[in-house]
Amino acid sequence: MQTTLEATLQRLRLPIENKRIWLREALTLRFPDPGDFDAWRAFVEASVAIAMSRLPGPVAETLDRFFDPEGPDALLIENLPVDPNLPVPPQDGRRPSVKTAVSEAVIAGLIEGHASILSYSNEKSGAPIHEITPVQGLEHTTSSTGRVPFACHTDAAFLAPRFCPRGLLLFGLLNQHDAPTAILPLDYILEAAPHSLVRSLQKPIFRHPSPSSFETSASVIRPIVWRDSEGVARIAVQTHAVLPMNEEAESAISQLRALLDTLAQERVVLRPGDALLFKNDRVLHGRDAFTGARWLQRAYFTDSLVPFREQTGDARRGFVFDAERLL
Ligand SMILES: [Fe+2]
Repeated sequence: MQTTLEATLQRLRLPIENKRIWLREALTLRFPDPGDFDAWRAFVEASVAIAMSRLPGPVAETLDRFFDPEGPDALLIENLPVDPNLPVPPQDGRRPSVKTAVSEAVIAGLIEGHASILSYSNEKSGAPIHEITPVQGLEHTTSSTGRVPFACHTDAAFLAPRFCPRGLLLFGLLNQHDAPTAILPLDYILEAAPHSLVRSLQKPIFRHPSPSSFETSASVIRPIVWRDSEGVARIAVQTHAVLPMNEEAESAISQLRALLDTLAQERVVLRPGDALLFKNDRVLHGRDAFTGARWLQRAYFTDSLVPFREQTGDARRGFVFDAERLL
């Protein structure tokens, strides 16, 4: 069956009245020290309660479906509340202490009613919500801190599938020149790829290095594409950084890059108050080079933190895990 972009990305819009009340309620919350578990949980639970009461039925139902394993792979919700007096984007990549907590309340509220936010201690200091904006001195890196083109990829591809984020939420705070975020469904790639390429991508002949946003130099050898226990195709790859282990892999990486250049990507301009949610192992994401101020926030989410706690032996109730202990 031919997949269509329209079927991949559902778009919903929050009514203005819901936005107005949600904003007023979110402004009463203070952003906690995420290291204080009780304070963080209290913030999350208050954020979920506000979101559940302010999302209209059809939007809430679509959000429910998105988080269902068999639900759609991507979802855009527009016109969500944003902090009224946003500080300038942080050039050090850290959350400004003077920022109110509206966007964080919206992000936590959308995710935590259905899934769990997680982070890695080796990336962005383990912050639950990442500031995605150019960092002084790192503008030329191919990462979330840069301005240069960032080819379509998945996040944390060097981790085993069960320890990768199941999905991402990107939230628009500021986008001066309407820089688009590109998304590309895996099904498009599989429909367009020759069988021989798909066969090669399914072999463990690729080295996946940790991305530059991680303070670790780990890498693993794994396939790029595989099928899970339900037979659903999954992908993990940084197309610009994945390394070949043999000639077949080298040819497959070249073919994959060339193929991606020919496929139409959905370009989504995340304006203030827009939340793009997608499944990390079903949809690739990237962007072109951009100019001007751009500030997104990002949160990773997963179905359950229990496997992370079991693997790391960390019995605490937190959401931050050492990626090196997940390898
Ligand atoms: Fe990314």
